Amino acid sequence: MKKYVEAKKFNFEDIKGISKRQLLQHYTLYEGYVNKVNEIWSELSKNLDYENPNQTYSQIRSLKLGESFAVNGTKLHEMYFENLGGERNKPYGEILKLIEERYGFYEFFKKRFRDIGLSVRGWVILAIDSIDRNIHIFGSDAHDVGSIWLSYPLLIMDVYEHAYMIDFGVDRRKYIDEFFNNINWKVVNDRLKYYNNLFKDEKYDKPIKPKANPWMKYYTY
Ligand SMILES: [Fe+2]
Repeated sequence: MKKYVEAKKFNFEDIKGISKRQLLQHYTLYEGYVNKVNEIWSELSKNLDYENPNQTYSQIRSLKLGESFAVNGTKLHEMYFENLGGERNKPYGEILKLIEERYGFYEFFKKRFRDIGLSVRGWVILAIDSIDRNIHIFGSDAHDVGSIWLSYPLLIMDVYEHAYMIDFGVDRRKYIDEFFNNINWKVVNDRLKYYNNLFKDEKYDKPIKPKANPWMKYYTY
């Protein structure tokens, strides 16, 4: 089997409130997605002629569904592990400015992010989206469900039970609190910088400002 991708290494040493055991079990799961990406891509590269393609069941259908699940599972877990830990655990910089413009104040953003985390089964994603050039919190029930094309992920939270069960049982709220204590805001700011470079085009380069209506900035979705 060819190795197209390799599991990245992450430093879990400076993550507080989430145990090493919990994080290492979660990491093992991530390695499983990486292995499946390699397996699926190897398989797809071997066979150029799949017989009887069919939308109910066929081999190529299974492979392509598995591919989007495994590739998204790989990327989302990498971004999740990356945005935990470090030294900059208080929000700052450009991302804080955008959050305050959009949500009025940070605590409101945090509450909205948490509420979405309690309402979905898989992922919460703060992203900047090219439709209005503004930040949005998207929720998703599974790796391959609810992806928003042309939006760039800035902050990722895994809310699958496997992310917290060992440490917190079914207390997802407590896990989300610990997640917030550990957010690496430098990583989030760096992603925003990266996005701004990618979308330098005049069409994309500035978020749309809230309208003159003073209530507008509290209108969030
Ligand atoms: Fe996970």
